[in-house]
Amino acid sequence: HAQPANLMVIFGATGDLAQRMLLPSLYGLHRDGYLPKNFRILGTARSELDEDGFRALVAASLEQRIAVEDRDSAAIADLLSRICYQPAALGDEPSFEALARRIKSLRDGDVVFHLSTSPKFYVSICEALGRHGLNGEGTRVLLEKPIGHNFGESVDVNEGVGRVFDEDRVFRVDHYLGKEGVQNLLALRFGNALFEPLWNSRHIEQVQITVAETVGLEGRADYYDGSGAMRDMVQNHLLQLVCLTAMEPPSQFDPSAVRNEKIKVLRSLRGIGREEVASHSVAGQYVSGAVGGVAVPGYAEELGRSSSTETFVALRAHIDNWRWSGVPFYLRTGKRLPRRCTEIYLQFRAVPHSIFANAGASVEQNALVIRLQPEERIELFMMNKTPGLDRSGIKLSQVALDLDLHQEFAHHRKRLAYERLYLDAIEGNGTLFVRRDEVEAAWHWVDDILDGWQHRGAAPKSYPAGTWGPNAAFSLTDRHGHTWRE
Ligand code: BG6
Repeated sequence: HAQPANLMVIFGATGDLAQRMLLPSLYGLHRDGYLPKNFRILGTARSELDEDGFRALVAASLEQRIAVEDRDSAAIADLLSRICYQPAALGDEPSFEALARRIKSLRDGDVVFHLSTSPKFYVSICEALGRHGLNGEGTRVLLEKPIGHNFGESVDVNEGVGRVFDEDRVFRVDHYLGKEGVQNLLALRFGNALFEPLWNSRHIEQVQITVAETVGLEGRADYYDGSGAMRDMVQNHLLQLVCLTAMEPPSQFDPSAVRNEKIKVLRSLRGIGREEVASHSVAGQYVSGAVGGVAVPGYAEELGRSSSTETFVALRAHIDNWRWSGVPFYLRTGKRLPRRCTEIYLQFRAVPHSIFANAGASVEQNALVIRLQPEERIELFMMNKTPGLDRSGIKLSQVALDLDLHQEFAHHRKRLAYERLYLDAIEGNGTLFVRRDEVEAAWHWVDDILDGWQHRGAAPKSYPAGTWGPNAAFSLTDRHGHTWRE
């Protein structure tokens, strides 16, 4: 059994993720008393900063990222005093040796290594840790996505890391799993007796999962253009949401039980290959337009050259198992869409027979909408009598049972996803991390679609920034009598 770690070593500690998310998350945990008493943070990167220089960098980041009402100067000062820095560069063995010595001197229990570096260094960093005996008992390693660029590469990375760290020490991050709303999906499904009996193909007609963003390239041209929306979002975040929406009830909320159910979903996804990509998938790329009333350039202009990378994906997926047979799962994600919005929409089947047909009232289908971002909200759409008198009978309108979770839990601070993930990593709980078989199964499915696209050789279809993707995304659902929820 894992002991709480007293040391978090962040590789890539001067980088964007560390400064924007990781250190502010450690602050949040520290301020609320979640970190062990003797907890230390050791940052490492190539920059030849000294400890004070690094602390100043962190102090500035915290100042920028932490809301004024959450700033506690004593807690900040105390956190800063727990931060150390040790420069190191792969390939420069003496610097790594110094790092290893530092780690050993600070370690007083379990240790977590977070590799917040370019994924191409994962295997070498793990090997270097292994050479210094920093694997085995009491160690854990956190890896950011992407694990490889395709199935084959992900196997190589997993094998390479696996030669040093056993699988139960490898914590693969999908930051969506750290989001409150994503975990709430589990609470909604398995903490209520109400929904589960209806949660299947007998009662659900279609499922839609949307992860829409308004941002464009955000200065990440090199990474993003080599990736595209399929690898950047579908392979990880969207498929994780599919898993949590579609999986069978796990026997308990623990790492094996939960992940055993998720992998079954991934393995039941029907392949979308060369024969199916034309009818089951759409790739898009934004051209200039306006988002929220602000004119923005197209992807190629932002990039400075033309590119065939997709910034939008829509899919019609199927899960071939007893629960979901015949139910389409429509997935879409894209950059420069009209609004930032992550939601899961489940449309229930129509009433078997309408007794209100004489009055000309249409009975719309029930729907459950689970909104994860930007605000958490659960809406259950149902039919209700429109008040008033009507000679021809009863008129109906659709209304929503509307649960605004932000308001409901107004006195709770909105936490960063990494607060949850770091706490679990420190305590050695892998439930909200992605297991090797999941990553590889997700790549396997995604690779097929990418191969189909490449085989067809069609460029992504363009859509003006600020719209819901190319027209083809609408035909994808329309053809089957379904409509994307707006
Ligand atoms: C990241 C992707 O994993 O998730 C980004 O690389 C994307 O391209 C981001 O913008 C979205 O995360 P969030 O938390 O803002 O929904």
